Amino acid sequence: MTTPHPSVEGLTPALRDRHSVTIFDPAYELRRDDLERLLRAAQWAPSGGNTQPWAWFVLPRGSEGHRRLLETLSDGNVPWVPAASAVLVAAAQIATDPDGNGRDRPLTAAFDTGLSAASLLIEATALGLATHPFGGYNAGELALALGVPDWFQIVCAVAVGAPGDVSAATDALVEKQNRPRTRKPLAAFAFGDRFGVPYDSTLTD
Ligand SMILES: Cc1cc2nc3c(=O)[nH]c(=O)nc-3n(C[C@H](O)[C@H](O)[C@H](O)COP(=O)(O)O)c2cc1C
Repeated sequence: MTTPHPSVEGLTPALRDRHSVTIFDPAYELRRDDLERLLRAAQWAPSGGNTQPWAWFVLPRGSEGHRRLLETLSDGNVPWVPAASAVLVAAAQIATDPDGNGRDRPLTAAFDTGLSAASLLIEATALGLATHPFGGYNAGELALALGVPDWFQIVCAVAVGAPGDVSAATDALVEKQNRPRTRKPLAAFAFGDRFGVPYDSTLTD
């Protein structure tokens, strides 16, 4: 497992240990109860007005849906996504009804769906599963393949599985997986009462 970055050490374990895994075990099958726990986590995320404006597609490796997803992947994701046990695809409900009324709040729908995805990632990490969110696919083709109506929009996919054997992986995947994980310093985004003026934090990075 990738060593946690020093600044993440103090966080709760599921947040500390979550990182995007690129080398998955291509033989590992997700247990049904684990998969369903991930859906429970996605279900219990908070959302504006409790609207729960998300839809999740469950695509286990080997299924027809998974095969079609693989055809939509961007070049950079082709070498690693297929080995994950399953891909879960999240779509946000961007209109209030199928007629397209209430299309004025797509940002909140995407935000809420992101919270649902974050809950899923954290629960998966707590279960010891490896995850990797990704947006590198042809969204139009994927929406067609999954029958996503136009009042929903695909926002993210999450590969889930078990970590794979690094010694059997290509150099490129090892390099991608071992790339140093970095973050902007707090001062770049945590402000006090004025945009751009850093919150007076005791944290230095
Ligand atoms: C919306 C979204 C889209 C992403 N798309 C891709 C992708 O297409 N391919 C990829 O390898 N990683 C993708 N990532 C993973 C990010 O690169 C990764 O989360 C980021 O580098 C931080 O690393 P960490 O997840 O290990 O903390 C995506 C992450 C998110 C949240």
